[in-house]
Amino acid sequence: MSFRIQPAPPARPNRCQLFGPGSRPALFEKMAASAADVINLDLEDSVPPDDKAAARANVIAATHDVDWGRKTLSVRINGLDTPYWHKDIIELLEQGGERLDLVMIPKVGCAADLYAVDALVTAVERDKARTKPIGFEVIIESAAGIAHVEEIAAATPRLQAMSLGAADFAASMGMATTGIGGTQENYYMLHDGQKHWSDPWHWAQAAIVAACRTHGVLPVDGPFGDFSDDDGFRAQARRSATLGMVGKWAIHPKQVALANEVFTPSDEAVAEAREILAAMEEAKARGEGAAVYKGRLVDIASIKQAEVIVRQAEMIAG
Ligand code: COA
Ligand code: MG
Repeated sequence: MSFRIQPAPPARPNRCQLFGPGSRPALFEKMAASAADVINLDLEDSVPPDDKAAARANVIAATHDVDWGRKTLSVRINGLDTPYWHKDIIELLEQGGERLDLVMIPKVGCAADLYAVDALVTAVERDKARTKPIGFEVIIESAAGIAHVEEIAAATPRLQAMSLGAADFAASMGMATTGIGGTQENYYMLHDGQKHWSDPWHWAQAAIVAACRTHGVLPVDGPFGDFSDDDGFRAQARRSATLGMVGKWAIHPKQVALANEVFTPSDEAVAEAREILAAMEEAKARGEGAAVYKGRLVDIASIKQAEVIVRQAEMIAG
């Protein structure tokens, strides 16, 4: 390993991020009562232009009035290519309560995008003598975003999480699909006349995970649009978890339980991880660096793999 130690990401659960439009304040109490770890009140693409100002006011009020419990509270601002984002930041931080944890910046394309938002946030925080520094999360959802993903992950110590936004990403890349995540009918290999589907999101997800893990940021899978398809959601989420992502968005409340199910290590997985750790303790006592567990090799790398699962389970439980 390089002599630089991989930084740990924020130690908070991020299994599910539940979104709701800032223009539908009637949903806020329901969102607060949900089992999602993170709440994202949206000022961006679920809010039509004529409702932007009203949505901002609703969201500001919700930072004061709604009991969000122990959830991470995040507000998605408008993109830097719009005439809204600077007022989103200024009004939110001048008038919003200290309960706000994160600001989510969509369609980030390069590290300088975050420098700009950081400068504005820092100025308003100082002006208003806000005591709790606001964290950032970003969405990688453009060709520029994925091309510059590593510099974005390193852009500011405020950054806590990074999501893949499949729909805008597909549009920006010119992908031939209107689906929001999941299996794409035409993305298959042909073998002996049989179709075998592969995963068109895999490369972007793996790039995001690598950038995030390098810089101590939480990698998150974004929306799955077809909220009638539970099995499709589960399959997408399981692939994301396998690749190292820690959670997934819910764009409808019925997806919250699905995300929590997939991104909470199962009792069996935790028990097996603990058994591997025990097997390696015994190997160490024998002066050996490798052991056999259930007929397969486990070694010092297995300790680190098992610790990922145990730590995740303990963090969620704690
Ligand atoms: N958070 C919490 N509760 C929600 C909710 C949400 N995002 N969306 C719907 N609900 C509630 C409804 O109020 C309803 O509650 P009730 O049983 O007390 O009446 C229940 O869940 C079922 O809702 P349903 O009728 O199936 O959905 P809808 O037609 O009201 O809304 C969507 C469907 C997709 C428009 C809505 O879920 C939504 O706006 N999702 C978020 C979209 C978003 O933020 N996109 C940006 C990120 S991609
Ligand atoms: Mg988007």
